[in-house]
Amino acid sequence: MPSVEVDWAALRAAATDVARRAYAPYSNFPVGAAGLVEAADGADGPTIVVGCNVENASYGLGLCAECGLVSALHAGGYGGRLVAVAVCGPDGRDLASCGRCRQVLLEAGGPDLLVNERPMREWLPGAFDADDLASQDAPH
Ligand code: THU
Repeated sequence: MPSVEVDWAALRAAATDVARRAYAPYSNFPVGAAGLVEAADGADGPTIVVGCNVENASYGLGLCAECGLVSALHAGGYGGRLVAVAVCGPDGRDLASCGRCRQVLLEAGGPDLLVNERPMREWLPGAFDADDLASQDAPH
């Protein structure tokens, strides 16, 4: 259970709103992501951070909505973690996150982070994380 109450309707509304500001002229597939931040002790919160996909004429350089969201989380200086994320299209429907974005979201919220009402441990079972890095013997 998240430590703060999640208003999924509000989170989806924020994701839908930001999806309408996406820059997706090549795929015509706008995506919006909105995340509820549990701010660190002493910081204001909870807060909603958002991101949208931003494409490029050099197709492979396109940025996903979830990456924009996580960038906003850190750049905003909330010092906290994501507890819930909605990923939606401009029509308000839920969208699946790509594999890379699942890994990026996991880092910012951990396995209990809820994405479209399901925990990251279900979206990315057996994920690689910091514990895996720590498990390897030091090179010699
Ligand atoms: N996209 C996202 O923004 N997030 C995802 O998790 C999946 C895909 C974007 C990338 C591209 O701009 C468009 O959706 C079509 O793939």
